[in-house]
Amino acid sequence: PEAAADGGRVTVATRRGDLARLTADELAGASLVTASALLDVLTRDELDALVAACRGAGCPALLALSVVGRVELAPADPLDVELAEAFNAHQRRGGLLGPDAVAVASDAFARRGAVVRVRDSPWRLGADESALTAQWLRGWAEAACEQRPDLAARAEGYVRRRLAECAAGALRVVVHHSDLLALPPATGFARGGVS
Ligand SMILES: C[S@@+](CC[C@H](N)C(=O)[O-])C[C@H]1O[C@@H](n2cnc3c(N)ncnc32)[C@H](O)[C@@H]1O
Repeated sequence: PEAAADGGRVTVATRRGDLARLTADELAGASLVTASALLDVLTRDELDALVAACRGAGCPALLALSVVGRVELAPADPLDVELAEAFNAHQRRGGLLGPDAVAVASDAFARRGAVVRVRDSPWRLGADESALTAQWLRGWAEAACEQRPDLAARAEGYVRRRLAECAAGALRVVVHHSDLLALPPATGFARGGVS
C-alpha cells in the first residue's frame, strides 16, 4: 500500500542474509519479526540465532505456516501413511527441524521468557484447488521417494490414481500447519493476555 493505516508512508528495504548471523542490533527498533514457511526449514542453530535476536531486541515474532507432519487425504489410500512418514523424514534431513520446528521453537522462545501462542493454520485443498492439490501431491510424493527410493515404483501408481481423483474433483487434502506467536514478556499484549 502507498500509505499505512495511520497515513504514514510505507517503505520497503530488502537485504539478503543468513538468519544464523542475525543479531539483536539488526532488529533494533523493529516492532515485529514475521515470516511464513520458514521455521521448518531451519536448523536448531539457525532457530536459536533467530530467537536470541528477537529476545535481545525485545521484538515479538509471528512465524506462520510451519509444517507439523500431519496430512489427511480423503478418500484414504493404503500408501498414504508410508509416504507421509517418508516425507516427514525428508523434512528432517541434515538436521532440519521439519515437523518438530514448532515444538522446538515454542520451547526456545519460552525458555527466554516469551509468551508463546500456537494455533492451527491448515491448508484445506478441495475440488476448487485441484491444480494446487496436484502440484502439492507431486512434490510431496517426489520428496518421499527421494528419501525412500524403494517407494518409487509403488508411488508412481499412487500418484497416477491420486491425480485422476484430483482431476475428477474427488480428492480432499488437509496439510496441517501451525502459526506461532512469541511475545516478549514486557509487551502490553502479554500483560493483556492473548487467546
Ligand atoms: C519454504 S520457503 C518460504 C518462502 C516464503 N516465505 C513463502 O512463504 O512462500 C523458505 C525460505 O526460507 C529461506 N531460508 C532458509 N534458511 C535460511 C537462513 N538460514 N537464512 C535466511 N533465509 C533462509 C529460504 O531461502 C526460503 O526462501
